[in-house]
Amino acid sequence: MITKLFRNAAIFTPVDSGTPKAGPLQGDVRVLDRGALLCRNGLLEAVGPEDQVLQRLAATALDVDHEIDLGGRCVIPGFVDPHTHLCFMMPREQEFSLRLQGVEYLEILRRGGGILSTVRSVRQAEESALYEATHRRAMSALRLGTTTVEIKSGYGLDTATELKMLRVIARLARETPLDVVPTLMGAHAVPEEYRDRSDAYVDRLIQEMLPAVVAQGIARFCDVFCEKGVFSVEQSRRILKAAQAQGLGAKIHADEVHDLGGAALAAEIRAVSAEHLLAARKENLRAMAQAGTIAVVLPATAYCLRKPFAPVRTMIDLGVPVALATDTNPGSSYTESMPFVFGLAVFMMGLSVEEALVAATLNAAYAVGAAARVGSLDVGKQADFAVLDGETPAVIAYHAGVNPVAQVYKKGEQYAPWTG
Ligand code: NIG
Ligand code: FE
Repeated sequence: MITKLFRNAAIFTPVDSGTPKAGPLQGDVRVLDRGALLCRNGLLEAVGPEDQVLQRLAATALDVDHEIDLGGRCVIPGFVDPHTHLCFMMPREQEFSLRLQGVEYLEILRRGGGILSTVRSVRQAEESALYEATHRRAMSALRLGTTTVEIKSGYGLDTATELKMLRVIARLARETPLDVVPTLMGAHAVPEEYRDRSDAYVDRLIQEMLPAVVAQGIARFCDVFCEKGVFSVEQSRRILKAAQAQGLGAKIHADEVHDLGGAALAAEIRAVSAEHLLAARKENLRAMAQAGTIAVVLPATAYCLRKPFAPVRTMIDLGVPVALATDTNPGSSYTESMPFVFGLAVFMMGLSVEEALVAATLNAAYAVGAAARVGSLDVGKQADFAVLDGETPAVIAYHAGVNPVAQVYKKGEQYAPWTG
């Protein structure tokens, strides 16, 4: 048993009451000006005002092995990044330049570039090389305060390569401090060998890929890119219902570029989350609120595609719980920085600092089914937290363009050092 006491911390955390926070509770954050965290074997044993935690400690026979003074700095739960495509080989910088010249994202995909060019390199890659590339990005995310990350497959688009990606993602979970949530995204694009035969690809996915992945137990969720020219609402429904029937949770890239009604499908099948939603209709957002489907918003993608940001204030007004994610990928959002996304959410989408904090921690944890372990600094959860170089979480948006995270603790162990 290792017992650690963290004192002299300004603690800002959502308090988990068993459901994602929506509407007026989206910004429900507990503040402890001079707080303390008592951590035993990686789990939180006590969290509260420092004097109360010290009193409790005195009343028990517990020996503290390490006492750490955090110098009054701000402590928040480790970020949960609930939507990434971190597992890929190289970036697509030339395509980025094309987009800067005005070529549309979906047009590049239509020409066989975009996702399909990453598919070619991931299919060819040695598993160890794919692991190294993914590991590098994941460690960068950890230094930026992310302690739990969802990672999608989807650059294989054949059973063998999707399984290779999911093995890489599973190895990352075993060999790094990160909590990793694996998602099968075999429906990320229609592979070149199925061009103009997308229904046949969907059949193959349902009949071959999905059962193979489920048999190995290496995916927790299934996700689909529901978009004009990619997968239709009907195809998405077939895939996600088949996945649910085999025990996976459903997620959906919905209404990113065109309003196809992906948000309505998410509500209909009670998906855990719908992602992007830049173009989603209000009535479909209302249906999501009724179904309890979380909106995972990805402001770095809107920024990078130069699109209007998702209507996040409308979502909150309608009672849709909002989570924030990076969408790390080599095409539409090449960043693994939750602080950057947090800053965009505050400056460009109009979230308050408290709303963004809940979105990037507790609601994000619900969006990946991990709220029992992470997402808030509640007793019984893991001691996963970031120490910020500032007094409040506002510093994340305020000190723009730099890493505001001084230290990162995962299960009570320090992984990223003080840099200031
Ligand atoms: O969420 N929209 C589809 N998938 C990613 C982009 C993946 C890529 O371009 O490589 C997204 O934006
Ligand atoms: Fe995505």
